Amino acid sequence: MARGVFLVVAYLSLLAFPSRSENPNPINATAYDKLQDGGFPIGLLPAGVVAYSLNRTSGDFSVDLGGECRVTLPPDNYLASYSKRVTGNLVAGRISALDGIQVRAFFRWWSITGIRSSGEDIVFEVGPASAKYPSRNFDQSLDCEGHNPRTASS
Ligand SMILES: *[C@@H]1O[C@H](CO)[C@@H](O)[C@H](O)[C@H]1NC(C)=O
Ligand SMILES: *[C@@H]1O[C@H](CO)[C@@H](O)[C@H](O)[C@H]1NC(C)=O
Repeated sequence: MARGVFLVVAYLSLLAFPSRSENPNPINATAYDKLQDGGFPIGLLPAGVVAYSLNRTSGDFSVDLGGECRVTLPPDNYLASYSKRVTGNLVAGRISALDGIQVRAFFRWWSITGIRSSGEDIVFEVGPASAKYPSRNFDQSLDCEGHNPRTASS
C-alpha cells in the first residue's frame, strides 16, 4: 500500500515537472541532482557521496564522502583533494564559502573558495584568482583514486 502511494506520487511528480523527467527518481534526489539543479555539472563532486544536506532557505550544504578523496581533474590533470566533508553555500549558479576542496598547482595546495557557473563554463575561484574551464569537462563524477593498495594492481 505505502509503496503504491509512493509510486503514484512519483508519477505525479513526473507529470508536474516534465523538464526533470531525465531524473530517474525525482523524490530521492541526490547531492548530484542538487548540483545540477543549481546549474553545475555533477563532476564537481567525485563518485561515492554517502550523505549530504542542503538548507533550501540559506543554501548552506554539506557533503560527506566517507573519507578523503583524490581525483585527477581534466583537462590539465590537476590533482584535486576532497576532504571527508565538503561544506559551502549553493545558490543558483554560484557556490561560495566553499571548504574542503583543494587543487595541487605550482608545487602547493590551493583551496578552492568558490565555483561559479558562467554560460558554458565553470569558473573556479582560489581567493582573488580564478580559472575557467568548459563545463562539459565535468560531466562525469570521477572515482576516488587510491582506494586500493598500490600492490593490488589489475
Ligand atoms: C536514496 O536512494 C539511495 C539508493 O537507492 C538510498 O541508499 C538512500 O537511502 C535514499 N535516500 C532517501 C532519502 O530515500
Ligand atoms: C536554514 O537556514 C535558515 C536561514 O539561514 C535558518 O533560519 C534555518 O534555521 C536553517 N535550517 C536548518 C534546518 O538549519
